[in-house]
Amino acid sequence: MAALKTAVRIRRYSNHDRAVIERMFENFQDYLASVDDIRRLVRKNALRRLDYGRAYLNKTLKDISENNGVFYVAENSRGIVGFVAARMVKQDKIDAIEIGRKESIGEITELYVTQSQRGKGTAQKLMGIAEKYLNDKGCTHMKLNVFAPNMRARRFYQKLGYTERMLELGKYNLTK
Ligand SMILES: CC(C)(COP(=O)(O)OP(=O)(O)OC[C@H]1O[C@@H](n2cnc3c(N)ncnc32)[C@H](O)[C@@H]1OP(=O)(O)O)[C@@H](O)C(=O)NCCC(=O)NCCS
Repeated sequence: MAALKTAVRIRRYSNHDRAVIERMFENFQDYLASVDDIRRLVRKNALRRLDYGRAYLNKTLKDISENNGVFYVAENSRGIVGFVAARMVKQDKIDAIEIGRKESIGEITELYVTQSQRGKGTAQKLMGIAEKYLNDKGCTHMKLNVFAPNMRARRFYQKLGYTERMLELGKYNLTK
């Protein structure tokens, strides 16, 4: 019985989910700020004033609608516990050469699971269904970006078979 109560199902995002997902985007950003070793990311109290959750969700939905993408939510008997967004990557001939092979690429752009639900396989389920969506569209290569200090996410993606390919470097606090 307990297993049934906490069972997670994955479904497409609907507009009724908007308020919950907006708050989750704020919690997501707050989490990233909490692991930011050089404390540059903005914390939740400031995000609310910017209406960050709404703006970020709008941007994500626009991106997936323009790029053959999808937004799935995970829910259990208590409500939504996570989400994933995925889309196809547009490539021109030059990109194809840089990648080394002519293949369709899919990108996981967002992945989040609420704190109390972590460690129960929810993200793995979300990733599986997002990858299948992209694979059904012809993608044989998946990519994603991850914030370097987010070690938990990096370990998680490694477990799913993702390996590091690009590194973004930054240099901060230069004087003008
Ligand atoms: C990274 C993140 C998405 C992982 O979500 P999750 O639902 O906890 O992930 P899973 O449960 O599928 O896998 C996580 C761990 O649980 C383990 N696990 C998987 N299925 C399990 C199960 N049925 N029971 C117990 N543990 C399980 C996994 O092996 C993994 O082990 P680890 O802790 O050693 O890494 C989550 O921590 C999160 O939302 N973080 C904040 C947002 C974020 O960082 N997003 C990624 C940005 S790029």
